[in-house]
Amino acid sequence: MPHAIIAGTGRYLPDNILTNHDLEKMVQTSNQWIVERTGIQERRIAGKDVSASDLAVPAAKKALAAAGVAPEEVDLILVGTSTPDMFFPSTACFVQAKLGCVNAAAFDMLAACSGWVYGMSVANAFIRGGQHKTVLVIGAEVYSHILNWEDRATCVLFGDGAGAVVLKASDTADGILAANIFSDGSKSELLFAPGGGSRSRFTPELVAEKRYTLAMVGNSTFKIAVKMMADAATKAMKENNVTPADIKLVIPHQANLRIINAVAKQLGMPEEHFFSNLQKYGNTAAASIPIALDEALEQGLVAKGDLVLMVTFGGGFTWGSLLVRL
Ligand code: UT7
Repeated sequence: MPHAIIAGTGRYLPDNILTNHDLEKMVQTSNQWIVERTGIQERRIAGKDVSASDLAVPAAKKALAAAGVAPEEVDLILVGTSTPDMFFPSTACFVQAKLGCVNAAAFDMLAACSGWVYGMSVANAFIRGGQHKTVLVIGAEVYSHILNWEDRATCVLFGDGAGAVVLKASDTADGILAANIFSDGSKSELLFAPGGGSRSRFTPELVAEKRYTLAMVGNSTFKIAVKMMADAATKAMKENNVTPADIKLVIPHQANLRIINAVAKQLGMPEEHFFSNLQKYGNTAAASIPIALDEALEQGLVAKGDLVLMVTFGGGFTWGSLLVRL
């Protein structure tokens, strides 16, 4: 059975920086509160006319260049996003057209912050089964468009960006060793964007009341996230008879530094083995792990042959883990 190996990565962040001090002028918050409770110092905000595919395309171009893969060679594009360009066509179809990936099927993975890990899991299954050989898996989000900028409990947390990975079929034993995804729809109302879908269609009232924006019960989400991320990480290691000491770097979803540190504690691993860049970007939802992976590779924190564990959690609830030998 072929293995899915990571052949190239890329990221794209909008230039515009919104600092905690900028937010102090917009809502009743403080740099101190945001840093102490989340670790976030600043985030990137896309222009008001920028869509998810606009961020996805430059990230994907960098990943393709790093992999030495031409657009025509890509046979599948998966975009993890919960801020799609529109309901349909999928953002992946827009990406396909903009990149000229004329031989690729394309669809989105709607699993909130877990969308990219879900995409990696689906891509892995397609590659292992022989159906696809060269897959672009992208996480791309413009959460700034679905935030309530008057709600201090949520607007300080998120940022915009995109990350991309090229997966290729290989007959080596490296690549994705475990890809686990989970969900629990019974807790959907703890983290959701309720308005604008077929249940609660766009009306002038819905827009006026900002019911299309993200709403979260932060505290409950925090506790469940820690448990599920630790469980998913443990499962990926156990399946492969791997111990925490074998892992070169854990790349967790970048929601909150306190969540990351709590997961490290539960796993009995040093915090220094966990990558974080949420200080600069906030929570970029489905884009957070591929952006972080690209930065970790660029910084030389991981290299070919290293074992990397990635673990995510998001609205749905959805969560999952990936164990990869680079
Ligand atoms: O990406 C998907 C997964 N996302 C997550 O996992 C996020 C999970 N949740 C969290 O990261 C944290 O729960 C938050 C960062 C959202 C909140 O931190 P917390 O320690 O759970 O605070 P809290 O919600 O319990 O709020 C504590 C206090 C409240 O005031 P009172 O009621 O104690 O007077 C809030 O009103 O902090 C207040 N507060 C703020 N104060 C200043 C909430 N947001 C802010 C703010 N600035 N931005």
